[in-house]
Amino acid sequence: MEVTVTDLTVRFGAVAVLDDVDLEIASGERRALIGPNGAGKTTLLNVIAGELRPAQGSVRLGTRDATTLPPWKRARLGLGRTFQRSTLFGQLTVAENVALAVRARIRGSWRFWPGGQHPVREEVGKRLEAAALAHLANRRAANIGHGEQRMLELELALAASPSVLLLDEPMAGLSGAERQSVLNRLLTLPRQVTIVIVEHDLDAVFAIAERVSVLDHGVKIADGGPAAVRADPRVQEAYIGAF
Ligand SMILES: Nc1ncnc2c1ncn2[C@@H]1O[C@H](COP(=O)(O)OP(=O)(O)OP(=O)(O)O)[C@@H](O)[C@H]1O
Ligand SMILES: [Mg+2]
Repeated sequence: MEVTVTDLTVRFGAVAVLDDVDLEIASGERRALIGPNGAGKTTLLNVIAGELRPAQGSVRLGTRDATTLPPWKRARLGLGRTFQRSTLFGQLTVAENVALAVRARIRGSWRFWPGGQHPVREEVGKRLEAAALAHLANRRAANIGHGEQRMLELELALAASPSVLLLDEPMAGLSGAERQSVLNRLLTLPRQVTIVIVEHDLDAVFAIAERVSVLDHGVKIADGGPAAVRADPRVQEAYIGAF
C-alpha cells in the first residue's frame, strides 16, 4: 500500500517539529527515514499511524485520505507498526504471544492450542522459525533476551499481515548478531509489505532501503537513492562524521 504525506506540519507549542514535509512512498517500497536526534522522525511515524494530528497537511494510505482516521481504523486498512516500548505479554510464553497476534487477525477458536493440526498452531510454528525463536517457544516472554524480545515484537507486528510496516529504531540496543537477525527477517518480507524504517544504524539503513528521506529540525533536506543521499552535502553537514 502506498503512503503519501503532503505538506505536513506538526507544532508543539510555537515550535514546528515537522515543517511542510512531503513523502511519496510507493507500494512495496523499502523507505528509510533518517536524521539527527530530535529531527522529527518518530513524530512523523506517529502522524502516519494516527497517534498525532498534524496542524496542517494530509496523510493518504493507498487511495484513502487517512488524515482524520483514528489509529485502529488505519490498522484495519493494513497499517502495522512496532513501538519503542515493549508490547509483549511478559507472563505468556513466546509461542502464546505469537498465537494471540495470529488469532487477533483470523479470529478463530478461543483456545490457545486447539487439538490436532490447526492453522493457528501451524502459522505460529512457521513464524517462530522465521524469527529464529523456535527454541524459545515455551519460555515466558519476560525471560528472554532484549534482542529476542525485539524480534518477537517484530514478528507480532508481522502476524497482523500489514500492507505497511512502520519501524521505529528496530535495531536500537541490539548486538551485531541481533541486528543481523532483524535485518535478515526484514529482507525476507514479501513485496506486499511496504516498509518505512527509522534507524540510526546507517549500515542497516543502506542494506535495506531503496530510497532514503532525511529530516533535520523538522525539514526534509534530502530524498532519493542511498548513493545520492550519502553524497548530498546538506546531509553530510547534518550528519557530521556519521558517514
Ligand atoms: N509531546 C511532545 N511535546 C513537545 N515536544 C515534543 C513532543 N514529542 C517530541 N517533541 C519534540 O519534537 C522534536 C522531534 O522529536 P522526535 O521524537 O520526533 O525526534 P526523532 O527524530 O524521533 O529523534 P530521535 O532520533 O532522538 O528518536 C524534538 O525536539 C522533541 O523534543
Ligand atoms: Mg525517535
